[in-house]
Amino acid sequence: MTYRIAVIPGDGTGPEQVREGLKVLEAVAQLEGFKYETVVYDFGGERYLRTGETLPDSAIEELKQFHAIYLGAIGHPDVKPGILEKGILLRLRFELDQYINLRPVKLYPGVETPLKDKGPEDIDFVVVRENTEGLYCGAGGFLRRGTKDEVALQISINTYKGVERCVRYAFEYCRKRNKKKKVTLCGKTNVLTYAFDLWERVFHAVGEEYPDITRDYAHVDAICMWMVKNPEWFDVIVTDNMFGDIITDLGAIIQGGLGIAAGANINPQGVSMFEPIGGSAPKYAGKNQINPLAAILALAMLLEHLGEERAAARIERAVQEVCSKHLKSLAAGRMGYTTSEVGDLVVRYLDLK
Ligand code: IPM
Ligand code: MN
Repeated sequence: MTYRIAVIPGDGTGPEQVREGLKVLEAVAQLEGFKYETVVYDFGGERYLRTGETLPDSAIEELKQFHAIYLGAIGHPDVKPGILEKGILLRLRFELDQYINLRPVKLYPGVETPLKDKGPEDIDFVVVRENTEGLYCGAGGFLRRGTKDEVALQISINTYKGVERCVRYAFEYCRKRNKKKKVTLCGKTNVLTYAFDLWERVFHAVGEEYPDITRDYAHVDAICMWMVKNPEWFDVIVTDNMFGDIITDLGAIIQGGLGIAAGANINPQGVSMFEPIGGSAPKYAGKNQINPLAAILALAMLLEHLGEERAAARIERAVQEVCSKHLKSLAAGRMGYTTSEVGDLVVRYLDLK
């Protein structure tokens, strides 16, 4: 079988990051003996500025034909915020029904965390973020726009089916992960008394089917505090789209920064998409200074999803080696190596195992 992978390098530093990921893919495919082909799509800010088009309608159907999508970053300084995000990134997540955004928060040995007295044994959990509902639906509108009596509404949509499939995924994932066997619901039941009432009921109803897993609840504001103070308490955190967006940036920082934070947009029945979560970082575009490790770890998640677990493990080990033996910092421009040199280093350590 030949894996078909769609590649969307995207904007800013996206192409540089993806280039290193593809370098690693080529090397690991050789070592593990699997075959793949890639098709590159130029969706992003440049194309939009040239043609006025974000995603052609045909793209969605075309992308459904792939085994996976590998994405760099979407976001361009010359395009008004929201156009590319909604027109490309969120549209892909929604139309491909990638209802899970899986974001591991894992501190690798040798990586510096801003958390005092915390190490790799303390920072190792996963956020399961609902990815197709909530405040991200775009439901809402203005009343009396442009007047002093203006009202802006932004509605969070939470459906039983949407919440249920997300919560179930979290419990299944927790069981498979087999670590602390604990799922924490991150909500705000004291204020968002409709949305999180539903979440809480579904969480316990589904959780009853998993007697081997401990159920835990915390408000989102408290979670932010505990993530800093006691990250070792967490195993799997499940939450809605907006809270998941926010707490995973916090997660990224405690695991060493956006330079190493990867995520997966998953449709277990369809095509999934893998990306570094850091964005397009236009300031560093074209400078060969961005850290490609997040994109390389996103590639590892992609391969694991395809069932190439050994390849994924090789990449993770290699990234660990590069972090502990080489990089001065994970921040762009301060690594002590260029983007392409970091990619080369990862390739060099792939046959450790
Ligand atoms: C992310 C990003 C996106 C989000 C933006 C770019 C729309 O912040 O993937 O976390 O909010 O989901
Ligand atoms: Mn985000």
